[in-house]
Amino acid sequence: MKNLIRIMKQTAKDNRKKIVIGEGWDERCLKAADYVLREGYADLVLLGDEKQIMKEAEEFKVDITAAEIINPKTSEMREKLAKDLYELRKAKGMTEEKALKLLDDVNYFGCMLVHTGYVDGMAGSAICSTAELMRPALQIIKTKPDAKLVSEVLISEDRKNNRILMFSDCSLNIDPDAEQLAHIAVNAADLAKSFNFEPKVALLSFSTKGSGGDADIIKKSREAAKLAQEMRPSYVIDAEYQGDAATNPHAAKRKCKDAKIMGDANVLVFPNLTAGNITLHLLSQLSDMKIDLSALVGIRKPVMILGRSTPLETVINLIIMAAFEANTSK
Ligand SMILES: CC(C)(COP(=O)(O)OP(=O)(O)OC[C@H]1O[C@@H](n2cnc3c(N)ncnc32)[C@H](O)[C@@H]1OP(=O)(O)O)[C@@H](O)C(=O)NCCC(=O)NCCS
Repeated sequence: MKNLIRIMKQTAKDNRKKIVIGEGWDERCLKAADYVLREGYADLVLLGDEKQIMKEAEEFKVDITAAEIINPKTSEMREKLAKDLYELRKAKGMTEEKALKLLDDVNYFGCMLVHTGYVDGMAGSAICSTAELMRPALQIIKTKPDAKLVSEVLISEDRKNNRILMFSDCSLNIDPDAEQLAHIAVNAADLAKSFNFEPKVALLSFSTKGSGGDADIIKKSREAAKLAQEMRPSYVIDAEYQGDAATNPHAAKRKCKDAKIMGDANVLVFPNLTAGNITLHLLSQLSDMKIDLSALVGIRKPVMILGRSTPLETVINLIIMAAFEANTSK
């Protein structure tokens, strides 16, 4: 993980990008902004009421003088952004009045700054829910032309076994069908590949290689693995595995001898958001595993979900990751 973060920091520093932070008055955002600006990893725009941001900055003893502060409710950019938002979404029922009202919201305002190229990426939802940032991000920034959907990938260091594991999707796609699940698997595998891992993608289930029968949700994972493998023949993508068979070689020997994945998966794909999100929160509460990074894959420009209980160190790394992705994503 240290290597990965070192590469991100170097890239971000070498070619500085501008990142907007949605809730600029949040304590972790202010502390992270101080660090990122001081180290020169990105230029920053903080959204919110200037007086409130400066007051909080003083209280937390952070220096954010190098940041640009924009209040979405009073900014002179509002009129122009509202017009752009109206043009972008008029076919979906957007009106100019509605667009202007939506721009009061830091998430809509921030996504419009990304869309218009005023900034290169966004980090938000430190206070609001994931959905409140994701909705405008998907509506405004949208899916990359070569991707079928946007999904989230969590990256965690399994310190006990000295390896990096990627999990998807724990945040966004509620109930994907087989084709959508295949794209979630491919998005995650491509991200692993971009970090120089050879993707070994296990589609998870309550069943290992038929042990649970042929329930629809098992068949969905099998179908998704088949489709994803066709899309990326050079990766290993396979179904269906229980969590232990996918991550523990001893369990795999007992449960699925001679399978393509023998406890050595590095990408774990959940059948739906219920399974993924519950696992993520239980892991972070009950084990010493922590989520080091997360990324939205398939979106046109970087958007980072900071999360309401994410530690400061991770918030910093996510802002740097936004700057890194703004440099590297095509
Ligand atoms: C993200 C989310 C808010 C979007 O749902 P929604 O607001 O009901 O919106 P819709 O399904 O109408 O989609 C809104 C837009 O996003 C697009 N979209 C939705 N999901 C998408 C995806 N996975 N990839 C790309 N685009 C997507 C839709 O096509 C639509 O675009 P359009 O308006 O231009 O046609 C919803 O999927 C959600 O709530 N996910 C779970 C978030 C969550 O609570 N996570 C757990 C906590 S971390």
